[in-house]
Amino acid sequence: MSRIVVVSNRVPVPQGNAGQAGGLAVALLGLMQRRGGLWFGWSGAVTEAPAPPGLTQRGGVGYATIDLTEAEHRGYYTGYSNGVLWPMLHSLPHLMSFRRQDLDVYRRVNRRFADNLVPLLRPDDRIWVHDYHLMSLPGALRQRGVLGPTGFFLHVPFPAPEAAAVAPGIRGLVQDVLACDLLGFQTATDRDNFAATAVGFAGAVRTDDNFVELGGRPVRLGIFPAEIAAPEFAATAAAQMETEPYRLLARSMRGQALLLGVDRLDPTKGLPERLEAFRRVVARRTARSLTMLQIAAPSREDVAAYRRLRQEIDAAAGAINSEFGEPDWTPLRLLARPQTRDTVAGFMRQARVGIVTPIRDGMNLVAKEYIAAQDPADPGVLVLSRFAGAAAQLDSALLVNPHDAEGMAEAICAALDMPLAERRMRWQAAWAAIAGASPEGWGQDFLRALAPETLDRMPMAGT
Ligand code: ADP
Ligand code: G6P
Repeated sequence: MSRIVVVSNRVPVPQGNAGQAGGLAVALLGLMQRRGGLWFGWSGAVTEAPAPPGLTQRGGVGYATIDLTEAEHRGYYTGYSNGVLWPMLHSLPHLMSFRRQDLDVYRRVNRRFADNLVPLLRPDDRIWVHDYHLMSLPGALRQRGVLGPTGFFLHVPFPAPEAAAVAPGIRGLVQDVLACDLLGFQTATDRDNFAATAVGFAGAVRTDDNFVELGGRPVRLGIFPAEIAAPEFAATAAAQMETEPYRLLARSMRGQALLLGVDRLDPTKGLPERLEAFRRVVARRTARSLTMLQIAAPSREDVAAYRRLRQEIDAAAGAINSEFGEPDWTPLRLLARPQTRDTVAGFMRQARVGIVTPIRDGMNLVAKEYIAAQDPADPGVLVLSRFAGAAAQLDSALLVNPHDAEGMAEAICAALDMPLAERRMRWQAAWAAIAGASPEGWGQDFLRALAPETLDRMPMAGT
């Protein structure tokens, strides 16, 4: 079997720490630990003297990482990836902040990734590139003579062509990523939007649902929704009931219903809208009957929009507590700190309502984790944004529009009042959608579609 080479900006080299918040790392780590292979990317460090990749072997996985310089980090990561591509891909153009030099640095860092990766490659490797930071990499690898099967998976959404067009430079990036043999997306909508953009801006031709052609060369398009290890997460959540963090939280609840949000502190997650919905819920219910815990792990703090968001939700949380709090009751607990994934699993199990209301999200693994964490005999209710990729699979959740605070408040109240029989029915349908899937299965599906035998069977131009 050929070796798998994963390339991503974020590489969670295991160090026995709390782990990285972020769907990409969570989805890939289990897969790589089971399969082995090479994982190449950014070390997470910023240094002024770029050195060749540092290599670490852990189990069957070799981690090869490079540092970024301050200027590279600013232009490639903070500037173009998170200041332009991330907001554009999530249809939030007003949050974009473009500087021409950032696009140049983005391209240059993608080329540097290619320069450092190529010497580590073997001829029969299957290369799997991940996410919006590395859209130029497939083109750069081909230019350096890499001919082997190369795939790309986009963890985040792809918007309609008119919305994609707002990002300066996107045409070139779409052409570069089309140098792959296989492009994977979370949902059919993302795939179709990308294909329409490739046709509209990059001169591609859509030959059927699953192919576009560029210059006569077919590029396969596939849908591979990211998954979690649901049975394992369920076991972790149940085991947490015996631990101190679970017990301390339960004791402090004193019989109140727990509402829970768990996110990176990110403008796509709909946090201000969610707090406004919660404010309306508190205004309607009896004091001391419920408490909301919102865990928001700080993320990308070099990006101005993220710093503004922190101030905004700090102020909104303070306002809710000062308006509705009692001497012995605080309706909202806001923690801007990451927790370990195990602790979060226990809190999810304890929560009567899981609130996952992003403005836009590629998948949202938190929604799947919340379902997995529930006690099947007495499950809580998931309130889920219809604009999360997960909504395509978890349609038995209470689906809401994250722009409609009143509608969300109604859904949260309906969740709080929902009879056991309905909670069970909805939970069982959601569990059935995730229980049989796994990160390994997700990866295998993608890698199977990328296998040389599969690619050889692809229809050629005109067939
Ligand atoms: P994203 O990739 O945009 O961060 P996902 O919901 O797909 O969103 O994945 C986030 C992953 O990181 C999940 O596994 C979740 O449990 C974890 N995570 C997110 N926020 C936190 C947090 N505040 N503390 C601990 N873990 C978190
Ligand atoms: C999302 C993105 C990932 C990213 C993660 C955490 O899941 O799709 O590519 O790694 O967020 O963000 P960060 O900027 O800290 O890597």
